[in-house]
Amino acid sequence: MKIRTDIAYQQCINADCGATFDVAEPLFECPKCGDLLDTCYDWSKAAMPRRLSAFEAKWADQADPLAFSGVWRFHELLPFARREHIITLGEGRTILQRADRVAEYAGLAPGRLFLQYEGLNPSASFKDNGMTAAYTHARLVGAKRAICASTGNTSASVALFSAVDGRIPAAVLVGSGKIAYGKLAQALDFGVRVIQVEGDFDTCMKRVKEVARELGFYLMNSLNPFRLEGQKTIMYRILEGLRWEVPDWIVVPGGNLGNSSAFGKAFKELHEAGLIKRLPRLAVIVAEGADTLYRIVNEEKIAWNGGRVDEAGIAAFYEQMDAENRRAKTLASAIEINRPVNLKKCLRALEWTGGVVEKVSDQEILDAKAQVGAGGFGCEPASAAGVAGARKLVAAGTIGRDEHIACVLTGHALKDPNITVAYHTLGDDELREAYGDYGVRGANSANKPIVVEDNLEKIIAAIQA
Ligand code: F0G
Repeated sequence: MKIRTDIAYQQCINADCGATFDVAEPLFECPKCGDLLDTCYDWSKAAMPRRLSAFEAKWADQADPLAFSGVWRFHELLPFARREHIITLGEGRTILQRADRVAEYAGLAPGRLFLQYEGLNPSASFKDNGMTAAYTHARLVGAKRAICASTGNTSASVALFSAVDGRIPAAVLVGSGKIAYGKLAQALDFGVRVIQVEGDFDTCMKRVKEVARELGFYLMNSLNPFRLEGQKTIMYRILEGLRWEVPDWIVVPGGNLGNSSAFGKAFKELHEAGLIKRLPRLAVIVAEGADTLYRIVNEEKIAWNGGRVDEAGIAAFYEQMDAENRRAKTLASAIEINRPVNLKKCLRALEWTGGVVEKVSDQEILDAKAQVGAGGFGCEPASAAGVAGARKLVAAGTIGRDEHIACVLTGHALKDPNITVAYHTLGDDELREAYGDYGVRGANSANKPIVVEDNLEKIIAAIQA
């Protein structure tokens, strides 16, 4: 038995359905009611350690590929596959950094802000955490072909795993025009089939489900509950980086809402197992131009409600969105999503953690991105939304100046170098000309190159200016 049918099973999240399914079934929606599925475990049969610090020593074991992986070091907390069948590329060897300069920008006291650099993954985004788990499951259920829709990072990660594993060729659907070049370059180079659909991410997501149903392709998007199991480990690593102290807040950008859903589940499970004493609060930050979650939570007041979500309210919201022809629009292209597929799981995570949702403008995102860069490592625009949101929540008094917060930087700075260079070098009008109107009114922390002729005196003068 390669897959742990003795321990793991799948269950519909809808309280009125709650149907369970074998873990060996490749599902991305409940076959009974169409709702989202969880990967669940009978923890009494799993070898859950009694203390989280038991995971620490594994770092040192360089000979074991599972110990080397920042995901599978925590295998006991996602035990759906046996060790010998796990596919790993050494993902998740990412770090939590204390970031005092960024803390100052966010209005937090020194030593209170930590950045979890998920851009340091093999394909340079957090997606690899989930993809190692999804690919492992795909192999175990005998998938022949894989598919995903993507704003860029999912496709890069799928392409990487597909290239290295070599047994499950994949196709990726991306919207026309909006994918950042660093991400497109990865998908092209890794040799995956790239289908550029005339439409946006929401269009691609709808189509990809249809293709998966029709052709039986294995779906690699975060609808896939096994992918989210891998993404839980980002939280374990944050706890590890804080010597197993639970921070007050986890701040994360929201797009398709896979991360926020996975993070909530991670903490809920640890809490139920008695491995942590309290849950941190989750702050999910969306872009103003892709603010479905913000509106649903803060304006429509729709909540998880014990698994009985106001479906009619959500349907009416989307109907209105379509009637107004409202399309997602943000320079943070990774989170340019108006129909987040994990919406309900995210509502659940918000309820579990006492979470909040904030929205930020593209100007705030790009300014925050420059500050994260100036603090070292850097990140792509969507990741900076988290920091921009943290700053806003501190200013509003929701997050206290002395609280401990960890922001997840979801993607590497070099994923989208064009926008970085544009921000630092272009004026307001030029930026608008190059990208269209995103409400960005110039760079608040531009670091513009100084152009000089080939003359030593002038070069020295420019350096010392
Ligand atoms: N940050 C980055 C860099 C992303 O690529 C994504 C999602 C998110 C944040 C949002 O995360 O969906 O878990 O809320 N990118 C997906 C993709 C949609 O196709 O690459 P989420």
